[in-house]
Amino acid sequence: NTRTLKVDKGVDNDDGYQQSVDCLRNGGLVAFPTETVYGLGALATDQDATKRIFEVKGRPSDNPLIVHIGTKEEVSTYAAEIPESALRLMDAFWPGPLTLVFNEKPGIIAENVTVGRGTVGLRMPDHPVALRLLRLLGGPLAAPSANRSGKPSPTKASHVARDLDGRIPFILDGGATGVGVESTVIDMTSTPPAILRPGGVTVEMIEAVIGPVRSEMRAEEAEAPRAPGMKYMHYSPDAPVWLIGPDLIQIEQAVRTLTDKGLKVAVIGPDELKTDKPSWYFATGAYADPRQLATHLYDALRKCDETEADVILAVEAPAQGMGVAVMNRLKKAADGKRFFD
Ligand code: TXA
Ligand code: MG
Repeated sequence: NTRTLKVDKGVDNDDGYQQSVDCLRNGGLVAFPTETVYGLGALATDQDATKRIFEVKGRPSDNPLIVHIGTKEEVSTYAAEIPESALRLMDAFWPGPLTLVFNEKPGIIAENVTVGRGTVGLRMPDHPVALRLLRLLGGPLAAPSANRSGKPSPTKASHVARDLDGRIPFILDGGATGVGVESTVIDMTSTPPAILRPGGVTVEMIEAVIGPVRSEMRAEEAEAPRAPGMKYMHYSPDAPVWLIGPDLIQIEQAVRTLTDKGLKVAVIGPDELKTDKPSWYFATGAYADPRQLATHLYDALRKCDETEADVILAVEAPAQGMGVAVMNRLKKAADGKRFFD
């Protein structure tokens, strides 16, 4: 049976952390909050423990896991070499929502974490609970998002419980995460470095520090995927999702068209475009601030599944800044479909 331990209040949490660390050292799994989404952690050097992550999630075993570390110094323990540009990114964005892929020092991280690719994705999360857990553990945590494979990443402890209740011993509940979409994954082994997944650190922020990077997501998705995660089934709600432009007249027209066919409609969109025409409207924040859209996106997608909606309209985010990560997730949920095309 899963126990949820609250660690977000000013109360004495030492016992909860100690139980979590003991569990991890004994090969168990612990879900914990990061600034992006909740992670499902296991000691990254323990082959049996990390194997259980794949089982509990129902995750394909050829998709590598991100290794979380509590200090920048640990990079040299796991990476064979550290390019100068990686050092600059670590200085600028760690702790934070950026995963750097390095050539790995062989024989340290469990083979099923890196799935024998010879590289390792490392990130230092920017969350007090994650950092405290990592420091008490004194070792690396392999942690994918703490959802069942094919569900949206969890941004609240209750999302984790919904997916994994009874499958893991502990959930550390640190409240809602902030960023809301996963970390940016960047491959530092290629020249120039290549963005494998857009996320919490934007391309603009990265290029301001190290200059141009490869970030043609569409081209890469079409090829053999370089971030293995990109080829897998991604979450889409029970009802089909259609993208729609940020335009009230278009939204209301689409809702009318669908309602006339007897369909119930849910809309995920910004605060400004909230309308009572659909049966449900899940507002995700100010359109002009895509960070808010990212924060609330996965919760809104999960809420759609709790409705009786037959169709979901998702309002497109701006095509820059954090909007890129939001659009990347929305396009996957919609399988690229736009309502007016
Ligand atoms: O924000 C996040 O990154 C969250 C939190 C928990 O840290 N974690 C997360 O993990 O999103 P996951 O497993 O759901 O996504 C990891 C992504 C996948 O697309 C995977 O293919 C890629 O990172 N990845 C991991 N290691 C890699 C490697 N060595 N080379 C290329 N891609 C890698
Ligand atoms: Mg995931």
